Amino acid sequence: MSTTRDILITSALPYANGPIHLGHLVEYIQTDIWARFQKMRGHNCWYVCADDAHGTPIMLRARQEGIEPETLIARISAEHQADFAAFRIGFDNYHSTHSEENRHYAGLIYARNSEAGHIERRTITQAYDPVEQMFLPDRFIKGECPKCGAADQYGDNCEACGASYSPNELKNPRSAVSGAVPEQRESDHYFFKLGDFEEMLKAWTHGGGLQTQVANKLDEWFEAGLQSWDISRDAPYFGFEIPDHPGKFFYVWLDAPIGYMASFQNLCDRLGASQPGLDFDRFWGSDSEAELYHFIGKDIVYFHALFWPAMLHGAGFRTPNAVFAHGFLTVDGQKMSKSRGTFIKARTYLDHLDPEYLRYYFAAKLGAGVDDIDLNLEDFTARVNADLVGKVVNIASRCAGFITKRFDGRLAETLAAPELFAEFAAAGERIAAAYEGREYARAVREIMALADRANQYIDEQAPWVVAKQDGREQELHGICSMGINLFRLLIGYLRPILPGTAAEAEAFLQVEPLTWSALATPLLDHEIARFKPLMRRIESDQIEAMIEASKADLAASTPAPQPAMAVNPHLEADPIAETIDFDTFAKLDLRIARIAAAEQVEGAKKLLRLTLDLGGETRNVFAGIRAAYDPTDLEGRLTVMVANLAPRKMRFGVSEGMVLAAGPGGSDLFILSPDSGAEPGMRVK
Ligand code: MSP
Ligand code: ZN
Repeated sequence: MSTTRDILITSALPYANGPIHLGHLVEYIQTDIWARFQKMRGHNCWYVCADDAHGTPIMLRARQEGIEPETLIARISAEHQADFAAFRIGFDNYHSTHSEENRHYAGLIYARNSEAGHIERRTITQAYDPVEQMFLPDRFIKGECPKCGAADQYGDNCEACGASYSPNELKNPRSAVSGAVPEQRESDHYFFKLGDFEEMLKAWTHGGGLQTQVANKLDEWFEAGLQSWDISRDAPYFGFEIPDHPGKFFYVWLDAPIGYMASFQNLCDRLGASQPGLDFDRFWGSDSEAELYHFIGKDIVYFHALFWPAMLHGAGFRTPNAVFAHGFLTVDGQKMSKSRGTFIKARTYLDHLDPEYLRYYFAAKLGAGVDDIDLNLEDFTARVNADLVGKVVNIASRCAGFITKRFDGRLAETLAAPELFAEFAAAGERIAAAYEGREYARAVREIMALADRANQYIDEQAPWVVAKQDGREQELHGICSMGINLFRLLIGYLRPILPGTAAEAEAFLQVEPLTWSALATPLLDHEIARFKPLMRRIESDQIEAMIEASKADLAASTPAPQPAMAVNPHLEADPIAETIDFDTFAKLDLRIARIAAAEQVEGAKKLLRLTLDLGGETRNVFAGIRAAYDPTDLEGRLTVMVANLAPRKMRFGVSEGMVLAAGPGGSDLFILSPDSGAEPGMRVK
């Protein structure tokens, strides 16, 4: 076999503010198959990943939950790792971008680029939230679309008419964090001069490491001109402070890819002493001969194929051999949708189905290109049942019983059909070439053609007939041993895709973990274990249950109901334990309101939408009182509301205030009512 290669493989780092879903898994499964394949080939291969823990959304999410960002990212990291482990994603290391290793390399890469003159300072004007005292990323500004006037659109594009624009074109802009009207403020930012790297990037792009579609896209970007890239953000920001610029932080996308290095450094520190060849400089030094590959989704090509190689080069590190982009997942031909129940979390899938099924299905659909891949649930069921259960596992179950009962579990000493075995072994290099080129669908086609061939052999030889005839013991032994040997080759070829099934098959065959080179040697005069079914059929009710559970997830993930106390979600202190001074109390604008309308909110288990009349002005308020009140009983009643609470964006719309209620919650919740004589709009003192 060819010489041993040093290979470092990464998958993109998932954001630490949400669960892993089946879309993510396209990537982690694709990468894991490649890493397992390289390891089976005997290469010195390492697969690392990490959580991407920085940035405004993570900071705000932690704040909303009333916890520190460190607490949030620790919890999400544990969830991510449990999901990945269950799908048998075999990372050699899983780290975090919020780590000392990453702080070190982010600082180093910045400092070296800065010393080389690749960083410049510019003053920019940006939207600022005067209430939260923070600059607002585009996604956190909402307003009316400047083209079509649709309300409640994000600062970068309109979901109604598809227009894209800059946030200062929005009409009636509001901060999505506090609801305040954003101001324009100036701030100093630091920019990475991407244009300095044009020649280097052009050479790298055409060095053969990129897919054609990706290289073409890059050419378009070159033609449009390489813009300097803003790599800094103002406080408050969850990230690393820029060493020589207090109050300025590295933008999350600066330190995210550096997280690949940080995770690898962490791996070297953990295992380097016992693993020859596991050495940071050997993989990242400018003269490294190791291979470096990044698997990513097509949405993040710009970061990986322009900024990342440029930053590395500017800092004296090697650049990647290749960036492999994949397409996006659709389910039944459409974008994953929460309301259709096709936005399926990894955990929800695992509650209903075996991870091996999904690994197989994705492999059967994946090629080396950037095309989207579709999970068609009917096809998924049919294909897994026909191929894995019906063809592959079936071969072993047709032969193993005879070996156990009639031959003390021992395989024959010679092959009954050596030319058939040779045909199977010869297919190994073709299948390996398909894996190497990430043409998994082709590998699967080749393997399934062999599985058909193996079943055909058994059908022709009909061991169940031979078994009933006297004097044909040796023939029976030969046929069944042959069948088991063909099964062993098939499982070996499928092993990168089906690591769980392969491990069970190895236990059944009583062999060491299969390597590619071991496959061509047949298993003869060898004792195998009693056969246990390796895989069950998918039943359609399992799929239905998973879809239903995904719809239920949606309902469960509605925003927390309005608390019984009037608590500003941005205040982290316990409002009961602390006293407030009179001025703070006086800031509360409590008003009598008439509940003009009350209705249930589709998809929200706990919320009612209230239209509150303040004596002329009306407010839309979501209240977490659905379990306690029938909406029709509320209409016309008077209650008390906080009228000057900053509007809060919820999943179902903007809530413009809060009604006061008392009680432990659920159905035990009582809204406050004034005595008769009170009128809508009156101030409560
Ligand atoms: N944190 C960044 C990546 C930083 S890498 C230095 C990020 N995170 S992500 O959680 O949004 O996505 C992680 C990976 O999953 C990305 O490569 C992304 O393209 C991929 N996918 C996320 N949703 C996907 C689908 N629906 N379908 C296929 N892949 C998808 O981006
Ligand atoms: Zn519009």
